Amino acid sequence: MRIEDIKIRKIFATNSKPTLEVEIKTKKGKVYSSVPFGTSKSKYEIVYKDFEEISEIFPRIKRYFFEDFRDIREVDRMLHSIDTSDNFKKIGGNLALGISLAFLKAFSLEEGVPVYKYLGGNTIPKPVCNVAGGWKGQSDIQEFLILPLHQDSFVKSIDEISDLYLKLGEIFSKKDPTFKFSKNLESAWVTSLPAEEILKILTNIKGENFVIGLDIAASSLWNGEKYVYKDKILSTMQQIEYVSSLIREFKLFYVEDPFHQDDFVSFSVLTKNSKCLIVGDDLYATNLRRLKSGLDISATNAVLVKPNQIGTVTDTIDFVKEAKKNRLKVVVSHRSGETDDNLLSHLAVGLDADYIKLGISGERVVKINEMIRIEEELS
Ligand code: PGA
Ligand code: ZN
Repeated sequence: MRIEDIKIRKIFATNSKPTLEVEIKTKKGKVYSSVPFGTSKSKYEIVYKDFEEISEIFPRIKRYFFEDFRDIREVDRMLHSIDTSDNFKKIGGNLALGISLAFLKAFSLEEGVPVYKYLGGNTIPKPVCNVAGGWKGQSDIQEFLILPLHQDSFVKSIDEISDLYLKLGEIFSKKDPTFKFSKNLESAWVTSLPAEEILKILTNIKGENFVIGLDIAASSLWNGEKYVYKDKILSTMQQIEYVSSLIREFKLFYVEDPFHQDDFVSFSVLTKNSKCLIVGDDLYATNLRRLKSGLDISATNAVLVKPNQIGTVTDTIDFVKEAKKNRLKVVVSHRSGETDDNLLSHLAVGLDADYIKLGISGERVVKINEMIRIEEELS
């Protein structure tokens, strides 16, 4: 496929910050892809550059993208040959990803199929929904998550989680005097109730088919020596005990980043000693090399997948393949700063992910609603 034109523009993300959109024109029409960004980022993610810098870099590399590319792998190879650093520090990882995602859409358009079909997948994942959390230090634990154990259909899971989310808001308004129905960056309820209290409420209302997850995002609690909470400071051993006790007491099904991003060993200890899904987000940063280090010691039994941590579609595919080969569960995830692009839903289905991590309200429904359309198409 040879494109007719490629251009970039500044658009805005859900956190009101400017971000990048890439537009590609082919004989078949136009496609647009935009790039999300994170707030609690791993230090192992690709380098993002601001739009002003990107708009100086892009004209210098634009000409490389008018070749006759056979598939997305060739485009991504071109991106890596233009920037040979391992974190896209020369051209910006956000520019690399914007180009890669736009080409993915262009190839799909060229073949006349939806993106998930172009990628070759057909599995509807289960949703992992962020329903409550903190904002600017209001809660020590970043995200309280709800997910279905069994799924009849995606739309039914979302229907039930939406009910739970609304019910949760009502309960917070009675139990938390500071609660004002405010939402955080991922449109989850912001509450200042202690973690154990939130977990008790979720346990009471969730019903039999739903289970509870946490994203502890522990790198943000780690001060280099200890885990610093509002009401306690824990050593690594104490953190292992604390997380294990939460898993036991609240029958947690999913725990993301219970330790900081360099502590593969503690991940491995927890994974060996619990039946829960232990998910690496900041730990792996969707980086194949870091995943392989984790696999050596069975650090986790699940991976979070965020294409914008690594910068190309091909790198994302290779990461997912390696995780699956080693029977790790795959969770394709949004970021706290999202856009109105619904490509994430296609990636989750196209890569046959087990789960997709999403917000349940506000602008977050863009991805949910696209998944509902894909589910209908596939049934
Ligand atoms: P981020 O956080 O998108 O702000 O980096 C989300 C997460 O840790 O899963
Ligand atoms: Zn996370």
